Amino acid sequence: MRTTQRTGPFRIGLIVGSTRPGRRGAAVAGWAAQVCSRHPAVRAGSAEIEVIDLAEQALPLLDEPVPAMFGDYRQPHTRRWSAVVAACDAFVFVTPEYNHSVPAALKNAVDYLYAEWNDKVAGLLGYGVQGGVRATDHLRLVLTEVRVAVVPTQVSVPIFTDFDFSGSDPGDPTAPGVLTPGEEREASLSAMLTEVLTWSAALPAPWRSADRGPAGRPAAEGSPELVA
Ligand SMILES: Cc1cc2nc3c(=O)[nH]c(=O)nc-3n(C[C@H](O)[C@H](O)[C@H](O)COP(=O)(O)O)c2cc1C
Repeated sequence: MRTTQRTGPFRIGLIVGSTRPGRRGAAVAGWAAQVCSRHPAVRAGSAEIEVIDLAEQALPLLDEPVPAMFGDYRQPHTRRWSAVVAACDAFVFVTPEYNHSVPAALKNAVDYLYAEWNDKVAGLLGYGVQGGVRATDHLRLVLTEVRVAVVPTQVSVPIFTDFDFSGSDPGDPTAPGVLTPGEEREASLSAMLTEVLTWSAALPAPWRSADRGPAGRPAAEGSPELVA
């Protein structure tokens, strides 16, 4: 599971947490991936963003007989999901707020695995009518249990300020609107990514290839190509 001796750029998995048809999550994640791809570390080629869409993973409700922390996976979809997460060095979670928490699909995807998450760093981006903060607060707790270190800076996207519904029928509950985040939203996402990289550099990473430096992670301080 966390045995990849991978070389190449530091891989940040951007996990799209909503799966429903017509979801706004696709627009939010697309914007987030664009912003992250403009980060100096990504532009310099020392980090890369991989969008991981839970709708494409199509995981059923957890159907493994053995809890994930034992790493005894019986289902092919679990092994596939394990490989996807294990190949990431850190994460950005993009989650909507559903009934004051995260979507069931996202919680389910976390529950499937254990070691693949361990000792990695994540940043959280929430969105919702009220900005998704209750969802990201819950997600922070959940990720703590699978040993993910969540950075303090997080991004909150309130739907009624960051989406333009001017061309939509006000009576249509499925109107997606057009995402129009302001510059400060981009700044906080970029700052969050910098924190993810900085914290990652401070954590030991025995599964990383030794050619990436003594701790297997890119250096943080003094490594402008990563955290500038
Ligand atoms: C089942 C469900 C529950 C929701 N609950 C909340 C909520 O508790 N708080 C909130 O601010 N928005 C809530 N919303 C609004 C969603 O955050 C908003 O519709 C968002 O676009 C959902 O993300 P998605 O379009 O990617 O699925 C809820 C939406 C759904 C579908």
